[in-house]
Amino acid sequence: MAFRDKKAVITGGASGIGLQVCKQLLANEASRIAIIDLNENKEDISKLRAAHPTQPITLVKMDVSNRQGMDNTYEELKNSFGSIDIVVNVAGIFNDQEVQQTILVNLGGIINSTLAALKVMSKEAGDNGGVIANMSSVVGLDPMFLLPVYAATKAGIINFTRCLGNDIYLNRTGIKFITLCPGATITDMFTNFTEKILFADMGDESYRVLDRLNKQSASDVARCILSALEKEKNGEVYIIEGKRLFSMEMKSYWRGIEKELNE
Ligand SMILES: NC(=O)c1ccc[n+]([C@@H]2O[C@H](COP(=O)([O-])OP(=O)(O)OC[C@H]3O[C@@H](n4cnc5c(N)ncnc54)[C@H](O)[C@@H]3O)[C@@H](O)[C@H]2O)c1
Repeated sequence: MAFRDKKAVITGGASGIGLQVCKQLLANEASRIAIIDLNENKEDISKLRAAHPTQPITLVKMDVSNRQGMDNTYEELKNSFGSIDIVVNVAGIFNDQEVQQTILVNLGGIINSTLAALKVMSKEAGDNGGVIANMSSVVGLDPMFLLPVYAATKAGIINFTRCLGNDIYLNRTGIKFITLCPGATITDMFTNFTEKILFADMGDESYRVLDRLNKQSASDVARCILSALEKEKNGEVYIIEGKRLFSMEMKSYWRGIEKELNE
């Protein structure tokens, strides 16, 4: 997928990794983008607008956990954009002390945004299809003892996206689904990390883990996200670690489904 003249929606695009994805899509000549975020980050968005005066940037202040709000947002974006080619679902939080909110925003938000986008991108409804990329994490693949709630939401995102990445959906909708699993990345998400782990008395362990992590920059992660989008491999799961993109070979454990489908 070349990005020239593409129209993209980025949730969580007002800061961190999402903001870098916006910057790089615009630098690669996307014709317009929409950012869905709770945070307006007027300063950085104004700079982005000034750097790309002919590529409109729509900022929608919306909570991704609001299902009806997300449906309405995508309807409105479809009406003003005409069509949407790319969705990158980045919005997420880390605070294992806030269990409900973590589930509703991280897993619920990705599900809401994906299902709302499906309705306005699907070729079943006369649209062109496209690519939807959902942000998980390496901790969605491998357990990370300090953050079980966050990790559970990220594991859920992988399975949700892989279910939709079955070619049966691609044939119906023309939409490809990919999952992104970055390792540690320098953003605001690490601010006050130790106060946001599930068990506050594990502060020492959390410092030890934080010290050892080899962190990459948000712009390195965004560059890898664009190359994952370019590959357009339906159902693929990618790790983004050490500034590089790796395709994951996902093992299949449940054989029963094959038997049932073949009977
Ligand atoms: N930073 C890391 O080490 C890392 C590693 C792997 C995955 N991730 C994931 O990458 C994504 C981006 O995180 P980041 O590190 O750039 O952090 P960030 O805090 O800089 O960015 C998150 C963005 O999501 C927005 N957001 C939060 N809740 C929202 C809501 N309810 N509705 C709409 N927008 C909302 C925030 O306002 C912010 O702009 C997250 O999903 C995170 O879980 C981060």
